[in-house]
Amino acid sequence: MKIAIIGTGYVGLPTGVGFSELGHEVVCIDKVAEKIADLNAGKITLFEESLEELFNKNRANGRLSFTTEMHAVANADFIIIAVGTPPHPITKEADMKYVYAAAEELAPHLSRYAVIANKSTVPVGTGDKVAEIIKSKNPSADFDVISMPEFLREGFAVHDFFHNDRVVIGTDSQKAKKVVEELYRVYPERPNILYVERRSAELIKYASNAFLAIKIHYINEIADFCEKAGANVREVAMGMGLDSRIGSKFLNPGPGYGGSCLPKDTNALACMARSVGANLSLVESAIVGNDTRKSKIAMRILTSVKGIANPKIAIWGLAFKGGTDDVRESPAIQIIEELVSKNANIFAFDPKAMKTAHMVLGKSIKYAASAVEAADGADVLVILTEWADFGSIPLEKLNMRRKNIIDMRNVINASVAAAAGFYYEGIGQ
Ligand SMILES: NC(=O)c1ccc[n+]([C@@H]2O[C@H](COP(=O)([O-])OP(=O)(O)OC[C@H]3O[C@@H](n4cnc5c(N)ncnc54)[C@H](O)[C@@H]3O)[C@@H](O)[C@H]2O)c1
Repeated sequence: MKIAIIGTGYVGLPTGVGFSELGHEVVCIDKVAEKIADLNAGKITLFEESLEELFNKNRANGRLSFTTEMHAVANADFIIIAVGTPPHPITKEADMKYVYAAAEELAPHLSRYAVIANKSTVPVGTGDKVAEIIKSKNPSADFDVISMPEFLREGFAVHDFFHNDRVVIGTDSQKAKKVVEELYRVYPERPNILYVERRSAELIKYASNAFLAIKIHYINEIADFCEKAGANVREVAMGMGLDSRIGSKFLNPGPGYGGSCLPKDTNALACMARSVGANLSLVESAIVGNDTRKSKIAMRILTSVKGIANPKIAIWGLAFKGGTDDVRESPAIQIIEELVSKNANIFAFDPKAMKTAHMVLGKSIKYAASAVEAADGADVLVILTEWADFGSIPLEKLNMRRKNIIDMRNVINASVAAAAGFYYEGIGQ
């Protein structure tokens, strides 16, 4: 099949690479010319495990191409919209201008039947609006708009593309369903495809993300309670997770949920609910709790160096989670910004997110070439991203002025730290 993907970011690029690997002919479209120039020059624009290898392979065999030209949709059987839906800076509603612009721009190029699949995370009813826009711009166009929400996890995008828990398709068009079946026929194992109404599919995405955010917020609150009650959240989470009704995933406490999805999607869902008079008090509570958490952690860090003249704070981890270079809404970045606003002297290291963090933090902090270098001469070492490698760095290698560790991801073993002569504070321990 011929597939066009509009938006070549964290969702569009892995999706394009994945479908080309399955044998489809894919063109990825983006309006950022430098991004397309890099991709056409063979330079991958984001880090995801195994992405570069499949990107090179499918570019070489001619199944994967990149362009800034929207007329590339003209030949496609299946057109995926994967543009951003960022939060409105004031209302926090999903800002739909990129989705609507994509619909307007693609409409004039439709000359034969195509399925237009919305993969961007969009408010309920967006499918209707996208269909209206296309119809108004091109009254003779033959198309179906379906909802096809994306559930990939950043850091595992390629893995998740090939091993979906489920594919949710929102449509009642039999013609569109046939095209979807054809699209997934080439999968080594047909994924579990759930067909629902378009509006339900749109809400499944938000309801799922808000549920995950609430789960993280809950274990964070339990971790805080453990600290006061003298229990250990690792053990509590393990005991909870063994219950198959609860499950062990998303029970790792930390400095708060971040990334381009959970904060934005919880806010957008809360706005949607308020606008129709529905009560989503759990979602509202997670939003407030998660927002205030980062300030509390910044205070905890500052308290740990109170009374020390010109303290040096080492930070390990800048990405919003391990396995990605994405720093969007990263708790690490927000905590650092708060520390910087109090004139803190920070040396940071992240295995993958140095470049992306630099774009946000600029010269407000210093960047180390390695984790060990960041800790050199520091008064406290703070761990903010759960990179597994951090747990295996021999602590004897750290040449710190004061041997203090605040581990907000519980990646270091408390007894190993104590044996190496460190004062160690984990989270919820
Ligand atoms: N990042 C994730 O892990 C993830 C997971 C699931 C769902 N989503 C959702 O998927 C959508 C995309 O997210 P993302 O992280 O890939 O965003 P992104 O910002 O990484 O990529 C979006 C891309 O779309 C391009 N674009 C915008 N308007 C365009 C237009 N008119 N024509 C061509 N290109 C255009 C931008 O230049 C950008 O490169 C969002 O709605 C997001 O909520 C993201």
